[in-house]
Amino acid sequence: MSVLVSARGLTRVYDIGRGWFREPAHLQAVGGVSFELAAGHTLAVVGESGCGKSTLARMVTLIEPPSSGRLMIDGLNAVTPPASEKPRLRRTVQIVFQNPYGSLNPRKRVGTILEEPLIINTNLSKQERRRQVLEMMAKVGLRPEQHSRYPHMFSGGQRQRIAIARALMLSPKLLVADEPVSALDMSVQAQVLNLLVDLQAELGLAYLFISHDLGVVRHIAHDVMIMYLGVVMEHGAKERIFARPLHPYTQTLLAATPGMGKNRKRIIAKGELPSPLNPPAGCVFSTRCPYVTDQCRRERPVLRPLDERLVACHYAERFLEQPAA
Ligand SMILES: Nc1ncnc2c1ncn2[C@@H]1O[C@H](COP(=O)(O)OP(=O)(O)O)[C@@H](O)[C@H]1O
Ligand code: SF4
Ligand SMILES: [Mg+2]
Repeated sequence: MSVLVSARGLTRVYDIGRGWFREPAHLQAVGGVSFELAAGHTLAVVGESGCGKSTLARMVTLIEPPSSGRLMIDGLNAVTPPASEKPRLRRTVQIVFQNPYGSLNPRKRVGTILEEPLIINTNLSKQERRRQVLEMMAKVGLRPEQHSRYPHMFSGGQRQRIAIARALMLSPKLLVADEPVSALDMSVQAQVLNLLVDLQAELGLAYLFISHDLGVVRHIAHDVMIMYLGVVMEHGAKERIFARPLHPYTQTLLAATPGMGKNRKRIIAKGELPSPLNPPAGCVFSTRCPYVTDQCRRERPVLRPLDERLVACHYAERFLEQPAA
C-alpha cells in the first residue's frame, strides 16, 4: 500500500503573551506527532477541544508551517516544497471545515462556488467546467437544479455536501476533514459520513478525519490516533483500539461514548483539562488519570509498540488483561 502522507515529529509552538505587562510565553499546540497515512485510507484524529487537532490539520493542509518536524505528502517535502511543485501539492490536499455556514460565500451561487477552483487552476472551457460541476454535484447528492441557488437556501447537511464537492473539484488525493459533522444533527451526521465513505470507495481518497467524538469515527476510520494536550496517547488500527484500549485516556473517551462503554469498567477522567501553557510534568495525563503514580508525575512515558499499536503509558501492560469489548 502506498504511503501518501508521512509526518515525523510534527510540532507547532505559538509565541503568545507578548505585549504590555505580559510575560512572553510559548504554547506547544502540537508536540512531536508522527503518523503515516496510506492512499485511500482514513486516519481519525480524536481528542478533546484544545488538544491540537485543528493545528495539526492546518499543518497538513499547508495553511501554516510546522515549527519543527518533517512532512512528506505524495512524495514531496511539504514543509519546504520546491516552488515548481507547490501548485501540485496544494491541489493534492484539500480541507473541509466544521462550520458549513461560515465556509461558503453567501453571495455566490453553488455553481459558481464549485466552478471557481476550476477557473483558477485549469484551462478548461466554460462548457467543460459546467459539466464537471454538475457531475460533482451528482456525486455528493445534490440535484442539477440546485446549481443556481445560494448557500443560505440549503440545510446544514447539504451545505457540508457543497463544501465537500468544492474540496473535490481539483481531484485531491487527501481530504482533511476538521470536525466535518460536529455542527450537524445526529441523523444528518450519518448521511454525511456515509457520503464520505462512498466517495472514498469511488475516488480512492485518503482522509485525515478529525473529531472530538470516538463514536463518529467508529464507522469511517481505518486507524485512530488519540491526542491529549498536543501529544499522541495511543495510535493504531481502529479494531485494536476499540476492542481493547490500552491508554487510560482512550478508556475514558470510550467509556463516555454512548453504546461503547459496555463490558468495561467505567473510568472517568478527574478534574479539569490543564492549560497547554502549563502542561503537567511527566505524563501529560497524570493530573486526571485514575491510575497515576509518582513515576507518572516524574517521567514522561514514551510512545511505544504494544499489542499491535502504539501507546504512551507506563502501565499499559496492565490493561492487556481486560476482556475485549
Ligand atoms: N494561532 C494560535 N495562536 C495561539 N494559540 C493557538 C493558536 N491556534 C491554536 N492555539 C492553541 O493551541 C491549542 C490547540 O488548539 P487547536 O489546534 O485549535 O485544538 P483543537 O482543534 O483540538 O480544539 C489550544 O490551546 C489553542 O488555544
Ligand atoms: S503513565 Fe501514569 S498517569 Fe499517564 S496514563 Fe499511564 S498510568 Fe496514567
Ligand atoms: Mg479544532
